[in-house]
Amino acid sequence: MHRQTIVAALLSAGTALAAPRPQASTTSAAPGATATIKCPIVFDGRVPEDYVADPTKFDTYATNKIFNPDYVKGNDLKWSKILKFPTGDPSRFDAGGYRSLEVTISDKSIFQKQNGFRRAGLQFLQDAADGPGMKGVKTLHFSVKQDATRSLNLTHEFLNVWHEAADYSSNQIQFQTGQLIGKSASDKNNFKVLDRNGKSLYSVAMDNTKWQNFAITLNYEKNQVQIYYSTGNDALKSVAGPTSADLSGGGQFQLGILRKPTGSSDVVNSGYHQKNLNEGQVYGGLFLEDSANNCVSL
Ligand SMILES: *[C@@H]1O[C@H](CO)[C@@H](O)[C@H](O)[C@H]1NC(C)=O
Repeated sequence: MHRQTIVAALLSAGTALAAPRPQASTTSAAPGATATIKCPIVFDGRVPEDYVADPTKFDTYATNKIFNPDYVKGNDLKWSKILKFPTGDPSRFDAGGYRSLEVTISDKSIFQKQNGFRRAGLQFLQDAADGPGMKGVKTLHFSVKQDATRSLNLTHEFLNVWHEAADYSSNQIQFQTGQLIGKSASDKNNFKVLDRNGKSLYSVAMDNTKWQNFAITLNYEKNQVQIYYSTGNDALKSVAGPTSADLSGGGQFQLGILRKPTGSSDVVNSGYHQKNLNEGQVYGGLFLEDSANNCVSL
């Protein structure tokens, strides 16, 4: 709390700090994160230092107060083994000592009997199919960074962040990368935000070194979506919308990796993945905020 208050005071002291500044090049404790969250947090997925010191905290309901410890992951894997904690500059909304986390997948990332997928997806602990995450106006924040030692094979289709309808029949919003099955390979290096019908709302090239910061405002009352984006420590800017999108159907958020197979018409249950799979996606600044009265932290 104390550190956040100081950062907030500094930010309100003048506009100089709002200007883009170079990212710190060291991996020391010096925080590179600069942004403050100004709207009420509904779900907080930011990772405090004590979870990094003892990742087994992610494994049980008794100790994991951030994410659902049991879902959605390989049956025989624990989150303490799936998650890695990269050192290096924190993302901009991890000011106050929060840490990045990397979701990884391997040959063992098979959830239930879904042999076609390799997946590891975090769900906010407090999220529920009919909970506050699917009412009113909410903004989901997430920053992503690439790990050169666990790069994604973009010949495959990846689902990275999405809101899945309560009946599992569709995702109201989906943030993806790689070659989408049945679509052109030309944008396989892009992150893409799609609506539930697969219509592209925004697309931007994956950056292999910088943090890429996204925020998606979901207006459940008007069925509209607005997308914000920046890189590094730059403030978010609106890049798409508000645009109409059917957000009905409740459900939950998921953040991580769902890797679809190639060579299959039944992607849930069968298909091809290379062996000795070792891929990861780094996340930072995960939270859902209340955007009533147009409040969005930029
Ligand atoms: C990437 O995926 C494609 C399609 O499954 C596969 O042919 C290729 O071997 C994979 N690349 C690596 C480096 O494993």
